[in-house]
Amino acid sequence: MSDDKPRDIASIKKEWDELAERYDTYYERFGGAVEHYVDWEILKEHLPTNRDAKILDAAGGTGRITLPLAKMGYSVTLCDISPAMLDVARRKLLDAGVLDKVEITECDINKLPYADESFDFTIGWNSMFEAAKELIRVTKKGGMISVFLVNRCGDAISKFHEDPNTALDLLSSKSNVVTYNNEKYLTVNVDEARELFEKEGIRIIEIYALCGMVEFLSISEDIRESRQWDEKFFKQTTEIVLRMSKEPSLKGLSRHLAVYGERIR
Ligand SMILES: C[S@@+](CC[C@H](N)C(=O)[O-])C[C@H]1O[C@@H](n2cnc3c(N)ncnc32)[C@H](O)[C@@H]1O
Repeated sequence: MSDDKPRDIASIKKEWDELAERYDTYYERFGGAVEHYVDWEILKEHLPTNRDAKILDAAGGTGRITLPLAKMGYSVTLCDISPAMLDVARRKLLDAGVLDKVEITECDINKLPYADESFDFTIGWNSMFEAAKELIRVTKKGGMISVFLVNRCGDAISKFHEDPNTALDLLSSKSNVVTYNNEKYLTVNVDEARELFEKEGIRIIEIYALCGMVEFLSISEDIRESRQWDEKFFKQTTEIVLRMSKEPSLKGLSRHLAVYGERIR
Protein backbone atom coordinates (compact mmCIF):
# COMPACT_ATOMS: atom_id res chain seq x y z
CA MET A 1 0.00 0.00 0.00
CA SER A 2 1.48 3.32 -0.97
CA ASP A 3 0.00 5.61 1.69
CA ASP A 4 -0.03 5.15 5.43
CA LYS A 5 -3.51 6.43 6.32
CA PRO A 6 -5.28 3.91 8.57
CA ARG A 7 -7.85 1.82 6.69
CA ASP A 8 -11.41 2.77 7.57
CA ILE A 9 -12.85 -0.68 8.25
CA ALA A 10 -16.19 0.68 9.51
CA SER A 11 -16.94 2.48 6.25
CA ILE A 12 -15.81 -0.49 4.12
CA LYS A 13 -18.14 -2.72 6.12
CA LYS A 14 -21.01 -0.22 5.74
CA GLU A 15 -20.58 0.01 1.93
CA TRP A 16 -20.72 -3.76 1.52
CA ASP A 17 -23.53 -4.18 4.08
CA GLU A 18 -25.63 -1.75 2.03
CA LEU A 19 -24.88 -3.62 -1.20
CA ALA A 20 -25.48 -7.11 0.20
CA GLU A 21 -29.08 -7.75 -0.89
CA ARG A 22 -28.33 -6.46 -4.42
CA TYR A 23 -24.89 -8.07 -4.93
CA ASP A 24 -26.08 -11.33 -6.51
CA THR A 25 -28.43 -9.59 -8.97
CA TYR A 26 -25.38 -8.68 -11.11
CA TYR A 27 -24.77 -12.41 -11.69
CA GLU A 28 -28.43 -13.01 -12.61
CA ARG A 29 -28.02 -10.89 -15.76
CA PHE A 30 -26.42 -12.14 -18.97
CA GLY A 31 -23.08 -10.27 -18.59
CA GLY A 32 -22.64 -11.27 -14.93
CA ALA A 33 -23.77 -14.84 -15.57
CA VAL A 34 -21.10 -15.18 -18.28
CA GLU A 35 -18.46 -13.84 -15.88
CA HIS A 36 -19.54 -16.20 -13.11
CA TYR A 37 -19.53 -19.18 -15.48
CA VAL A 38 -15.98 -18.40 -16.65
CA ASP A 39 -14.66 -17.69 -13.11
CA TRP A 40 -16.07 -21.03 -11.96
CA GLU A 41 -14.91 -23.06 -15.00
CA ILE A 42 -11.34 -21.86 -14.45
CA LEU A 43 -11.47 -22.48 -10.70
CA LYS A 44 -12.76 -26.03 -11.32
CA GLU A 45 -9.64 -26.81 -13.38
CA HIS A 46 -7.50 -26.17 -10.28
CA LEU A 47 -9.57 -27.66 -7.44
CA PRO A 48 -8.00 -30.39 -5.28
CA THR A 49 -9.07 -33.87 -6.39
CA ASN A 50 -9.46 -34.87 -2.75
CA ARG A 51 -12.92 -33.80 -1.49
CA ASP A 52 -11.60 -33.78 2.10
CA ALA A 53 -9.45 -30.79 1.20
CA LYS A 54 -10.03 -27.69 3.33
CA ILE A 55 -10.84 -24.58 1.30
CA LEU A 56 -10.87 -20.95 2.45
CA ASP A 57 -13.05 -18.48 0.55
CA ALA A 58 -11.67 -15.22 1.99
CA ALA A 59 -13.74 -12.07 1.42
CA GLY A 60 -16.17 -14.54 -0.09
CA GLY A 61 -19.19 -12.26 0.32
CA THR A 62 -22.55 -13.83 -0.49
CA GLY A 63 -20.97 -17.23 -1.13
CA ARG A 64 -20.96 -17.08 -4.95
CA ILE A 65 -18.09 -19.58 -4.89
CA THR A 66 -18.58 -21.16 -1.45
CA LEU A 67 -22.05 -22.45 -2.43
CA PRO A 68 -20.99 -24.54 -5.47
CA LEU A 69 -17.89 -25.74 -3.56
CA ALA A 70 -20.04 -26.93 -0.63
CA LYS A 71 -22.44 -28.61 -3.08
CA MET A 72 -19.44 -30.53 -4.49
CA GLY A 73 -18.74 -31.83 -0.98
CA TYR A 74 -15.75 -29.69 0.04
CA SER A 75 -15.46 -28.32 3.58
CA VAL A 76 -15.33 -24.59 3.13
CA THR A 77 -14.46 -21.74 5.47
CA LEU A 78 -16.13 -18.54 4.31
CA CYS A 79 -15.02 -15.24 5.82
CA ASP A 80 -15.84 -11.63 5.08
CA ILE A 81 -15.83 -8.21 6.76
CA SER A 82 -19.53 -7.60 6.02
CA PRO A 83 -22.09 -9.33 8.25
CA ALA A 84 -24.86 -8.54 5.74
CA MET A 85 -22.98 -10.23 2.86
CA LEU A 86 -22.47 -13.26 5.14
CA ASP A 87 -26.18 -13.29 6.08
CA VAL A 88 -27.08 -13.61 2.39
CA ALA A 89 -24.56 -16.47 2.07
CA ARG A 90 -25.95 -18.24 5.17
CA ARG A 91 -29.48 -18.05 3.75
CA LYS A 92 -28.41 -19.48 0.37
CA LEU A 93 -26.41 -22.30 1.99
CA LEU A 94 -29.34 -23.17 4.26
CA ASP A 95 -31.78 -23.23 1.30
CA ALA A 96 -29.40 -25.54 -0.60
CA GLY A 97 -29.04 -27.86 2.42
CA VAL A 98 -25.25 -27.45 2.66
CA LEU A 99 -24.85 -25.03 5.59
CA ASP A 100 -23.23 -27.83 7.62
CA LYS A 101 -20.33 -27.96 5.09
CA VAL A 102 -19.40 -24.33 5.73
CA GLU A 103 -17.82 -22.47 8.65
CA ILE A 104 -18.65 -18.77 8.48
CA THR A 105 -16.52 -16.08 10.16
CA GLU A 106 -16.75 -12.30 10.18
CA CYS A 107 -13.20 -10.95 9.95
CA ASP A 108 -10.77 -8.66 8.16
CA ILE A 109 -8.90 -10.43 5.36
CA ASN A 110 -5.74 -8.63 6.49
CA LYS A 111 -5.89 -10.27 9.94
CA LEU A 112 -7.20 -13.77 9.40
CA PRO A 113 -8.02 -15.65 12.65
CA TYR A 114 -6.56 -18.95 11.35
CA ALA A 115 -3.32 -20.76 12.18
CA ASP A 116 -0.45 -20.95 9.68
CA GLU A 117 -0.94 -23.58 6.96
CA SER A 118 -4.62 -24.30 7.79
CA PHE A 119 -5.93 -24.69 4.22
CA ASP A 120 -5.25 -26.81 1.13
CA PHE A 121 -6.73 -24.18 -1.18
CA THR A 122 -7.12 -20.49 -0.42
CA ILE A 123 -9.28 -18.20 -2.54
CA GLY A 124 -9.07 -14.41 -2.24
CA TRP A 125 -11.32 -12.89 -4.88
CA ASN A 126 -11.60 -9.30 -3.73
CA SER A 127 -8.58 -7.97 -5.62
CA MET A 128 -6.42 -6.81 -2.69
CA PHE A 129 -2.79 -7.65 -3.16
CA GLU A 130 -2.18 -6.30 0.35
CA ALA A 131 -4.07 -9.29 1.79
CA ALA A 132 -2.06 -11.82 -0.18
CA LYS A 133 0.59 -12.34 2.50
CA GLU A 134 -2.11 -13.34 4.98
CA LEU A 135 -3.67 -15.68 2.43
CA ILE A 136 -0.29 -17.28 1.74
CA ARG A 137 0.40 -17.65 5.49
CA VAL A 138 -2.76 -19.74 6.02
CA THR A 139 -2.16 -21.90 2.93
CA LYS A 140 -0.36 -25.23 3.46
CA LYS A 141 3.00 -25.71 1.76
CA GLY A 142 2.16 -27.61 -1.39
CA GLY A 143 -1.35 -26.08 -1.29
CA MET A 144 -2.92 -23.76 -3.86
CA ILE A 145 -3.87 -20.12 -3.87
CA SER A 146 -6.16 -18.17 -6.20
CA VAL A 147 -6.16 -14.39 -5.94
CA PHE A 148 -7.83 -11.68 -8.03
CA LEU A 149 -5.85 -8.48 -8.57
CA VAL A 150 -6.75 -5.22 -10.30
CA ASN A 151 -5.29 -5.31 -13.83
CA ARG A 152 -3.72 -1.89 -14.44
CA CYS A 153 -4.27 -1.54 -18.18
CA GLY A 154 -7.80 -3.01 -18.22
CA ASP A 155 -8.76 -0.90 -15.23
CA ALA A 156 -7.50 2.27 -16.93
CA ILE A 157 -9.43 1.39 -20.11
CA SER A 158 -12.65 0.79 -18.15
CA LYS A 159 -12.46 4.09 -16.24
CA PHE A 160 -11.20 6.30 -19.11
CA HIS A 161 -14.64 7.63 -20.13
CA GLU A 162 -15.42 8.73 -16.53
CA ASP A 163 -12.01 9.94 -15.42
CA PRO A 164 -9.42 10.27 -18.21
CA ASN A 165 -6.78 11.85 -15.92
CA THR A 166 -6.76 8.94 -13.48
CA ALA A 167 -6.79 6.45 -16.35
CA LEU A 168 -3.76 8.08 -17.99
CA ASP A 169 -1.93 8.37 -14.64
CA LEU A 170 -2.45 4.65 -14.14
CA LEU A 171 -1.07 3.83 -17.56
CA SER A 172 1.95 6.07 -17.17
CA SER A 173 2.68 4.48 -13.77
CA LYS A 174 2.28 7.80 -11.93
CA SER A 175 0.02 5.76 -9.67
CA ASN A 176 -0.44 2.09 -8.97
CA VAL A 177 -3.28 2.55 -6.48
CA VAL A 178 -7.03 2.79 -7.15
CA THR A 179 -9.86 3.23 -4.65
CA TYR A 180 -13.09 1.22 -4.72
CA ASN A 181 -15.67 1.24 -1.92
CA ASN A 182 -13.27 3.19 0.35
CA GLU A 183 -10.62 0.47 0.00
CA LYS A 184 -7.32 1.10 -1.77
CA TYR A 185 -6.17 -1.53 -4.26
CA LEU A 186 -2.79 -2.00 -5.87
CA THR A 187 -2.93 -2.25 -9.67
CA VAL A 188 -0.50 -4.51 -11.49
CA ASN A 189 0.26 -5.98 -14.89
CA VAL A 190 0.92 -9.68 -15.53
CA ASP A 191 4.69 -9.44 -15.05
CA GLU A 192 4.34 -7.50 -11.80
CA ALA A 193 1.74 -9.97 -10.49
CA ARG A 194 4.08 -12.85 -11.26
CA GLU A 195 7.05 -11.15 -9.60
CA LEU A 196 5.09 -10.14 -6.46
CA PHE A 197 3.84 -13.69 -5.84
CA GLU A 198 7.10 -15.42 -6.71
CA LYS A 199 8.81 -13.21 -4.11
CA GLU A 200 6.34 -14.53 -1.52
CA GLY A 201 7.14 -18.18 -2.27
CA ILE A 202 4.39 -18.91 -4.81
CA ARG A 203 5.09 -20.91 -7.98
CA ILE A 204 2.80 -19.37 -10.57
CA ILE A 205 0.67 -21.95 -12.36
CA GLU A 206 -1.33 -19.56 -14.56
CA ILE A 207 -2.55 -15.97 -14.69
CA TYR A 208 -5.95 -15.39 -16.37
CA ALA A 209 -7.64 -12.25 -17.64
CA LEU A 210 -11.04 -12.09 -15.92
CA CYS A 211 -13.90 -9.65 -15.54
CA GLY A 212 -15.09 -7.25 -18.23
CA MET A 213 -13.95 -9.33 -21.25
CA VAL A 214 -17.58 -9.74 -22.37
CA GLU A 215 -17.69 -5.96 -22.92
CA PHE A 216 -15.28 -6.28 -25.86
CA LEU A 217 -17.73 -8.44 -27.82
CA SER A 218 -20.07 -5.58 -28.85
CA ILE A 219 -23.08 -7.41 -27.40
CA SER A 220 -25.89 -4.89 -26.94
CA GLU A 221 -26.48 -3.52 -23.46
CA ASP A 222 -30.06 -4.85 -23.65
CA ILE A 223 -28.74 -8.40 -23.96
CA ARG A 224 -25.96 -7.93 -21.39
CA GLU A 225 -28.47 -6.62 -18.84
CA SER A 226 -31.21 -9.12 -19.62
CA ARG A 227 -32.32 -11.82 -17.17
CA GLN A 228 -33.46 -14.21 -19.90
CA TRP A 229 -31.41 -15.33 -22.84
CA ASP A 230 -30.95 -17.79 -25.64
CA GLU A 231 -29.00 -20.77 -24.20
CA LYS A 232 -27.07 -21.39 -27.42
CA PHE A 233 -25.84 -17.79 -27.50
CA PHE A 234 -24.94 -17.96 -23.79
CA LYS A 235 -22.88 -21.08 -24.45
CA GLN A 236 -21.11 -19.46 -27.41
CA THR A 237 -20.40 -16.34 -25.37
CA THR A 238 -18.96 -18.28 -22.43
CA GLU A 239 -16.77 -20.23 -24.83
CA ILE A 240 -15.24 -17.15 -26.43
CA VAL A 241 -14.81 -15.36 -23.06
CA LEU A 242 -13.11 -18.45 -21.63
CA ARG A 243 -10.72 -18.45 -24.59
CA MET A 244 -10.11 -14.69 -24.26
CA SER A 245 -9.30 -15.15 -20.55
CA LYS A 246 -6.56 -17.63 -21.45
CA GLU A 247 -5.21 -15.82 -24.53
CA PRO A 248 -1.77 -14.28 -23.75
CA SER A 249 -2.20 -11.42 -26.25
CA LEU A 250 -5.36 -10.19 -24.43
CA LYS A 251 -4.12 -10.30 -20.86
CA GLY A 252 -3.89 -6.52 -20.46
CA LEU A 253 -7.56 -5.97 -21.24
CA SER A 254 -9.53 -7.45 -18.36
CA ARG A 255 -10.36 -5.57 -15.17
CA HIS A 256 -8.94 -8.37 -13.00
CA LEU A 257 -6.06 -10.80 -13.20
CA ALA A 258 -6.66 -14.14 -11.53
CA VAL A 259 -3.39 -15.55 -10.22
CA TYR A 260 -3.28 -19.30 -9.57
CA GLY A 261 -0.21 -20.66 -7.82
CA GLU A 262 1.25 -23.26 -5.51
CA ARG A 263 2.86 -22.37 -2.18
CA ILE A 264 6.35 -23.83 -2.35
CA ARG A 265 7.93 -22.25 0.75
C1 LIG B 1 -16.42 -7.88 -4.99
S1 LIG B 1 -16.96 -8.68 -3.52
C2 LIG B 1 -16.40 -10.31 -3.86
C3 LIG B 1 -17.16 -11.37 -3.13
C4 LIG B 1 -16.80 -12.79 -3.57
N1 LIG B 1 -15.38 -13.06 -3.39
C5 LIG B 1 -17.17 -13.02 -5.02
O1 LIG B 1 -16.27 -13.22 -5.84
O2 LIG B 1 -18.37 -12.98 -5.32
C6 LIG B 1 -15.76 -8.15 -2.34
C7 LIG B 1 -15.98 -8.69 -0.94
O3 LIG B 1 -14.84 -8.33 -0.15
C8 LIG B 1 -15.28 -8.04 1.16
N2 LIG B 1 -14.25 -7.23 1.81
C9 LIG B 1 -13.84 -5.97 1.50
N3 LIG B 1 -12.83 -5.60 2.31
C10 LIG B 1 -12.62 -6.64 3.15
C11 LIG B 1 -11.71 -6.87 4.22
N4 LIG B 1 -10.83 -5.95 4.57
N5 LIG B 1 -11.76 -8.06 4.85
C12 LIG B 1 -12.65 -9.01 4.51
N6 LIG B 1 -13.54 -8.84 3.51
C13 LIG B 1 -13.52 -7.69 2.84
C14 LIG B 1 -16.60 -7.31 0.95
O4 LIG B 1 -17.40 -7.31 2.12
C15 LIG B 1 -17.19 -8.12 -0.21
O5 LIG B 1 -17.98 -9.19 0.27
